[in-house]
Amino acid sequence: EQAEKDGYEHYMLKEIHEQPRALRNTMTGRIDQGCQRILFPDLGLSTEGIKEIEKVYIVACGTAYHAGMIGKHVIESLAQIPVEVDVASEFRYRRPLFKGKSLTIVVSQSGETADTLAALREAKRHGSSILAITNVVGSSIAREADHLITTNAGPEIAVASTKAYTSQLIAFYLLGLYLAQEKETLPAQERQILISALQKLPDQVELVLANAEGIHSFAHSIKDEGHLFFIGRGLDYAVSLEGSLKLKEISYIHSEAYAAGELKHGTLALIQEGTRVIALSTQAELHEKMVSNITEVKARGANVLGIALEDNVELHRSVDDVCLIPSTESLLTPVLSVIPLQLISYYTSVALGNDVDRPRNLAKSVTVE
Ligand code: G6P
Repeated sequence: EQAEKDGYEHYMLKEIHEQPRALRNTMTGRIDQGCQRILFPDLGLSTEGIKEIEKVYIVACGTAYHAGMIGKHVIESLAQIPVEVDVASEFRYRRPLFKGKSLTIVVSQSGETADTLAALREAKRHGSSILAITNVVGSSIAREADHLITTNAGPEIAVASTKAYTSQLIAFYLLGLYLAQEKETLPAQERQILISALQKLPDQVELVLANAEGIHSFAHSIKDEGHLFFIGRGLDYAVSLEGSLKLKEISYIHSEAYAAGELKHGTLALIQEGTRVIALSTQAELHEKMVSNITEVKARGANVLGIALEDNVELHRSVDDVCLIPSTESLLTPVLSVIPLQLISYYTSVALGNDVDRPRNLAKSVTVE
């Protein structure tokens, strides 16, 4: 087992560090030589078929569901198709209205999650075409889907998902760009800008990993907290949910992720002197709003760690600590902003002496409902 961990203390840390390679693998063969176009020759979606899609459903569980929340933003903004995203166990029983031509995207690292598989079958029964995003080529979900995007991230052993999540994000970017390219909803020049930013992400993840020393001491400083809050807006809210899940899974510290604008409708009552808050602010157009939300929690005594793009000087002044990530296109920031959150949960779990790779009560793949 030690050899398989490649010198890392835990699979989770190894898998966190494997992300640059995993992301490159997800992109391999799917971008043309000149970085102009997305290539999905084996996907089996024709241009005509793509133009006819009226609605997209995204269905998944756990971390894959959080990737789906980003996928919704990506597909809606690039391909201009309305998207609903659901937790698989809810989707099955809420009787979604399948009207017109729809595409149901099921996201699953293992390809074996019972609720996701059942949701796939339910969507199929209603005549929706199924596109699977999965890391396991021969899995049940891969086999039952009509269209398949493999993430090619390599085996993920730690229960807490890391490289599978970021490679699912890459799959969504590629898919969103592909749909937009075939539907002609995005000018070619904007597509190229996004493609070249996408290709820089693996190196940028490496940079975030190389500059992560500060996270160690931050993790130590939160290990004895009873609860913590993550706040963000838009894509940052979706990443906050993933950061909060990660922390709960392996450190067993209670945390909540909140859409920052909703704080004043309830959660603000929980903020007191010394409450720890992690605030994500990577979206330029939402930045001012985030600064005012940070000011709100600080006025109640919160201690705030900001996660922001390196050029966001204003945020530095409004938080207690800051963790900077390299600049990229707004749509792509989740791939970078989630890395410090993965490391925070990892180092907190280690500091508490928990079984990082096999947290209590959880399984890597849940094949029962
Ligand atoms: C389990 C794992 C989670 C994972 C979820 C969905 O609960 O502990 O880490 O996100 O299943 O798994 P899947 O294989 O479908 O992505």
